[in-house]
Amino acid sequence: MSWGLQNRLNRIIRPDTKRTVMLAIDHGYFLGPTSGLEEPEKTIVPLLPHADALMLTRGILRQCIPPTSNTPIVLRVSGGSSILGKLDNEGITTSIQEAIRLNVSAVTLSIFVGAEHEKQTLMNLSQLVNEAEAYDTPVLAVTAVGKDMGRDARYLGLCCRIAAELGAHFVKTYYCEDFEQVVTGCPVPIVVAGGKKTPEKEALELAHNAIQQGAVGVDMGRNIFQSEAPHAMIQAVRKIVHKNASVNEAYDLFQTLKNQK
Ligand code: 5RP
Repeated sequence: MSWGLQNRLNRIIRPDTKRTVMLAIDHGYFLGPTSGLEEPEKTIVPLLPHADALMLTRGILRQCIPPTSNTPIVLRVSGGSSILGKLDNEGITTSIQEAIRLNVSAVTLSIFVGAEHEKQTLMNLSQLVNEAEAYDTPVLAVTAVGKDMGRDARYLGLCCRIAAELGAHFVKTYYCEDFEQVVTGCPVPIVVAGGKKTPEKEALELAHNAIQQGAVGVDMGRNIFQSEAPHAMIQAVRKIVHKNASVNEAYDLFQTLKNQK
């Protein structure tokens, strides 16, 4: 791997722990002003010091994130669909030159395996890898499976492996039963999404299980920014990811920080 690409990846996956806590706030690109992100600046700016990287679109980066921020950016460059239409009908929305101008550390897009536009999204990934590697910029592939397919180890393992084969430098997927099989079959690092909002302790359990079974970290959104105490939640997640804390230790930290206000 070239020096530039490795250097950018090291900004995201910390070399000291070989892990990462990414904060995902790109939901608006197909959901609009989703709960917790109605005014992204208010929710997110206080969390920036606790995030190893921030995943978002160029519009929210330019309008809501101060250019004084040092938090590495993973820029979503796919879109073109909405919750009202066919989610898998995505194209590339942002050029690699624009991503470089925005000084990002990686670019990201979604692939939809088993969906109507599977081929289009896989070709998007291949094209993005071709273009991003010319600038030594890593690509994160976000895996999604077709509507009728379970989010299980068989299908998520299929998506992650295809993403790696097409050149993704790291992959984001969902936690599932037998998650270690997904990790074993994927030769690049995996980060897990948090999924829909659950009670804080459950989200911490998910992070803990994913790390124990080989994920290099999380790329968590709703379970942080929709938490009753986002600043406490992100620090509790960090304790699991970077300090190998137990779920109870992390939950204790969450409650302590939540009550401090
Ligand atoms: C959707 C995404 C989102 O960033 C991701 O799934 C959000 O994370 P979470 O599930 O933790 O809210 O990539 O395509």
